[in-house]
Amino acid sequence: MTGNYLRLGVNIDHVATIRNARGGLHPDPLRAAKVAEKAGADGITAHLREDRRHIGDRDIELLRNEIDLPLNLEMAATEEMLEIALQHLPYAACLVPEKREERTTEGGLDAAGNFDRLLPFADQLGRAGIRLSLFIEPDPKQLDAAKALGAPVVELHIGPYCNTEAGSVERDRTLSEIVDAADYAEQLGLECHAGHGLDFDTVAQVAAIPSIVELNIGHFLIGEAIFGGLESTITRMRALMDNARADAIGDRSA
Ligand code: PXP
Repeated sequence: MTGNYLRLGVNIDHVATIRNARGGLHPDPLRAAKVAEKAGADGITAHLREDRRHIGDRDIELLRNEIDLPLNLEMAATEEMLEIALQHLPYAACLVPEKREERTTEGGLDAAGNFDRLLPFADQLGRAGIRLSLFIEPDPKQLDAAKALGAPVVELHIGPYCNTEAGSVERDRTLSEIVDAADYAEQLGLECHAGHGLDFDTVAQVAAIPSIVELNIGHFLIGEAIFGGLESTITRMRALMDNARADAIGDRSA
């Protein structure tokens, strides 16, 4: 499972946030997805929220039908979202906790505490051939629950690490939790992804963890694109990831 290549999933939610500020069609998340592909993204991630504050149902339909990259649908475990996932059959679905009043996803899904409620969702998504991922804290208890739910993939919530100060004790502590959880995921046979809050300054240390195979990055890329353009921002992120991974495994050709 440990590979040299680290995949980049680009989350385009906030292209839709800007579009929706005026209610028109610009900027277009589908166009952003196509630029992301050109810039070296390996997948497109979109979160269809209950309140449709950014991505809408039509965006999911267009992303599903008009891009070549695999689509990762972030969704709450609700009947409405399950029905939409089963209708559009994205390549992957990532179950996230969702609260109406939150600004962004706050914390990981409590897969251990909600095991019985999540089981039918995991089961139906899995049976539909959708690659299920659970967005969880880097905590062995949550990884055990993900495994027992039959999810092939986990995405570690690394927001707390991204919010620490560079060089601080807290940064070291949160990073080592991520390293331990990624290693444990690998032992359990779970494919390990990570995301939330990554930027140019925080990405290298996470990209250097060889048992992590995918990073999902959104807000920073879309915000930074205002200054540097989307294609060059993603290209730079891709290069930072590739360089950190190559250094970590001692292979400059990776
Ligand atoms: N992964 C998950 C599960 C998320 O909910 C988000 C935010 O939508 C991200 C990754 C990306 O986080 P950010 O936008 O902070 O890069």
